[in-house]
Amino acid sequence: MDTGQMLYEGKGKKLFLTENANEVLVEFKDDLTAFNAEKKGSEQGKGALNCEISTAIFELLAKEGVSTHFIKKLDSTHMLCKKVEIIPIEVVVRNVATGSLIKRLGIDEGKVLPFGLVEFYYKDDALGDPIINDEHCKILGITQDVSELDFLRSQARKINAILSAFFIERNLRLIDFKLEFGRDSSGHILLADEISPDSCRFWDKDSNEKLDKDRFRQNLGSVKVAYEEVLRRILNK
Ligand code: TMP
Ligand code: ASP
Repeated sequence: MDTGQMLYEGKGKKLFLTENANEVLVEFKDDLTAFNAEKKGSEQGKGALNCEISTAIFELLAKEGVSTHFIKKLDSTHMLCKKVEIIPIEVVVRNVATGSLIKRLGIDEGKVLPFGLVEFYYKDDALGDPIINDEHCKILGITQDVSELDFLRSQARKINAILSAFFIERNLRLIDFKLEFGRDSSGHILLADEISPDSCRFWDKDSNEKLDKDRFRQNLGSVKVAYEEVLRRILNK
């Protein structure tokens, strides 16, 4: 695909300018990273799988009234999105304890949490994305208006309700996931980034088999097979 000037390269995606100042081209890469890029790999076709999975999820969320940056999918690894200024907070929602939560708080792996836990992490690789609260956000100048944080939390809970119901019908438990939001040129907050097995944890409903990037993080193998299985379940309920 003919792309314009590259605006940004992240660990999983590249962003390019387009002729329209309010739109960007997003390219999904095959690269895989974990533990703040200490572990690196690549899986051919992973970018295309994430592009297709993210497209399906953004379309579902838009239908349910969530404002997102997604405009349309262009080809196997590219989508057109509204240009946003990313808010430097990773919003994580957890339904089941695993990952960094069990390390930080000593909760047993697999414990179902009594409610969807919403956490904020400061999006700063040099600092290792530390966990933060509303007062940290204020001090860091991430937002002048703390009600924006309530908006992020309410969007995250709404997205959790929509996606948990969607995936359980497909025999997948949505264990936890990470969201990023951005402000468009008129200041509206839109869901941005991607929603894929790179940014979510999915466990098979019956076997609890991991079908997400933990296969790469934990050297479980069959990374691409797992992502293909998630896509298959999304498409053929
Ligand atoms: P964690 O348990 O490692 O904190 O991860 C929580 C969720 O956030 C999990 O679904 C994976 C996702 N995540 C990202 O998308 N990017 C990241 O950099 C990290 C650390 C987690
Ligand atoms: N995305 C992060 C990294 O590369 C961490 C992770 O997803 O585990 O390094």
